[in-house]
Amino acid sequence: MPTSHKKVNALPRFLTLLFLVVFALPLLAADGKKLFASCVACHGARGEGNAQLGAPNIAGMAPWYVSRQLANFASGSRGSDNADRYGTQMREAAKVLISDDQRLAVSQHIASLPPQPVASSAKVSDTDVANGRSQFNAICSSCHGSAARGNPTLGAPSLVGLDATYTERQLKAFREGRRGAHPDDKWGAQMRVGATMLADMKSGRDALAYIATLK
Ligand code: HEC
Ligand code: HEC
Repeated sequence: MPTSHKKVNALPRFLTLLFLVVFALPLLAADGKKLFASCVACHGARGEGNAQLGAPNIAGMAPWYVSRQLANFASGSRGSDNADRYGTQMREAAKVLISDDQRLAVSQHIASLPPQPVASSAKVSDTDVANGRSQFNAICSSCHGSAARGNPTLGAPSLVGLDATYTERQLKAFREGRRGAHPDDKWGAQMRVGATMLADMKSGRDALAYIATLK
């Protein structure tokens, strides 16, 4: 009889599916942790970053933002400018991840890491926090949010908990076209608009000093 025949065949398929759900999915989740081993030398075991190596604190970063950056490093729309010393280093490191699945898995692992404090060595000197607050509210908050926690719809990441020597370098890179100027980097182009709205880098440093006060 065709109906009972069908039922007999469905069982192994069901068991295979059950096996995939119970065993393979946790394996996939564990993969990100394994892949993260190649990142530890620069970003630290807890993803806390290393100011001396120019590697930012990435612990707890949103996976949509991290996977986009990893894809940008892989394709060269970030980190392919020869004058971008730190970006080119990260570009080499990103080659370890060979697929979107791997980039997503490692991003999810990074998102699961508890946030780490900013390196105490990283301070922005000679700044005016009050001016920074007005600069931030006038220019940056429209995309990054009034508490700098980011806005996924606008592609703008959280800026809270990033070390200021790193953010200062990024802001300069956006203003001077070492980041965000690649024709395929559409989100970077948005940030370039934001960066060039600042009158000068002094106002930018003030804004970053204000962001550093946000918890
Ligand atoms: C050789 C050192 C080195 C290794 C290894 C390394 N990174 Fe990086 N990473 C850096 C540096 C330096 C930067 C800063 C680049 C810049 O200034 O634009 C960076 C930047 C990043 C960023 C961008 C953060 C942001 O706020 O935009 C992410 C995400 C990242 N790394 C993830 C990883 C992952 C995941 C791995 C492992 C697969 C890894 N890195 C391995 C040095 C490294
Ligand atoms: C028009 C929207 C917009 C405005 C305005 C804007 N940003 Fe951004 N910003 C973005 C986007 C989008 C990104 C992500 C770019 C990418 O994917 O590479 C970003 C990225 C950044 C980064 C890099 C973060 C990292 O982890 O590497 C910094 C730092 C930053 N913004 C600071 C600022 C500051 C300071 C201001 C105000 C002076 C500002 N932004 C204004 C949209 C904006």
